[in-house]
Amino acid sequence: MIQFQSVHKAYRVAGREIPALQPTTLQIGSGQVFGIIGHSGAGKSTLLRLINRLEEPSGGRIEIDGVDVTALDATGLRRFRQQVGMIFQHFNLLSSKTVADNIAMPLRLAGELSRAEIDARVAELLGRVGLQDHANKYPAQLSGGQKQRVGIARALSTRPKILLCDEATSALDPQTTTAVLQLLAEINRELGLTIVLITHEMDVIRRVCDRVAVMDAGVIVEEGPVAEVFLHPQHPTTRRFVLESEHVDEDEQRDDFAHVSGRILRLTFQGEATYAPLLGTVARETGVDYSILAGRIDRIKDTPYGQLTLALTGGDIDAALARFGAADVHLEVLR
Ligand SMILES: Nc1ncnc2c1ncn2[C@@H]1O[C@H](COP(=O)(O)OP(=O)(O)OP(=O)(O)O)[C@@H](O)[C@H]1O
Ligand SMILES: [Mg+2]
Repeated sequence: MIQFQSVHKAYRVAGREIPALQPTTLQIGSGQVFGIIGHSGAGKSTLLRLINRLEEPSGGRIEIDGVDVTALDATGLRRFRQQVGMIFQHFNLLSSKTVADNIAMPLRLAGELSRAEIDARVAELLGRVGLQDHANKYPAQLSGGQKQRVGIARALSTRPKILLCDEATSALDPQTTTAVLQLLAEINRELGLTIVLITHEMDVIRRVCDRVAVMDAGVIVEEGPVAEVFLHPQHPTTRRFVLESEHVDEDEQRDDFAHVSGRILRLTFQGEATYAPLLGTVARETGVDYSILAGRIDRIKDTPYGQLTLALTGGDIDAALARFGAADVHLEVLR
């Protein structure tokens, strides 16, 4: 659905070039929820805004659904933008217009539907985002979560193929964030919409995304399926995001482990293996004792996973490691 070939972007400020995106090649498949994570200034918004040409690339080629959008003229660009909805951190609603009028705005600008058709479409969208009873309110009369629902309905009004979300949940409390993420997942599932979502929270990525790109200083330093990147981060920036999201302090952990005897290993289980009674079986068969130093069982989108850090003592430790190594789990020997 989205293809970047060596796309780069530099901003020109007071005669100086500020590089924001280094040459980037990227593919985002149709119907995916694609997350972009990175620290402030990493180039996330720049990348996102290149997709709907809110920013002009300094070079490279951008193809959306098979069309070279870098070559579009003004009319072509206006048409194309109807296929790409966008939602923002601060909602960007018009305060002088009602909820219904905010949602109808892109349809009125497009000028392709009659008044009755627009009314019907707005009613349908209000239903989809759960705001049936709020059509005639003004944005100031809504909560943050409700405002973002209006933003989502407005973004969906022209039946886009792609939805771009720039920190769409960053201004919301955790509970409202969950509700908005659930709505986005539902839209992705039911409408088959491709969603590109920027966040600085790994937890948001973990809950809704299929794939993730990690950005650092204008470069995508790591990209892949969320479970892969999340459970086996390669780049230091990715590792920091993951540890931060698990509230793990690596130095503290190292100190803790110094007081523990035996071999230390980390097991990562995914899918069905999460619930298999592997630990007890291996302990019984090899006579090792284990203590659990750290652990969590959680979900990445719809897939359960578990991660356990164990200290093994006594028994046949090598046989136990071999058994774990041969099982349907990922084994890392930490010490
Ligand atoms: N319009 C602009 N003019 C000049 N420089 C810009 C402009 N927009 C962004 N930049 C610069 O480009 C770099 C990348 O900015 P960008 O907004 O893409 O980062 P970001 O990852 O979205 O950050 P944040 O998490 O803070 O939103 C930064 O150094 C920024 O200062
Ligand atoms: Mg940004």
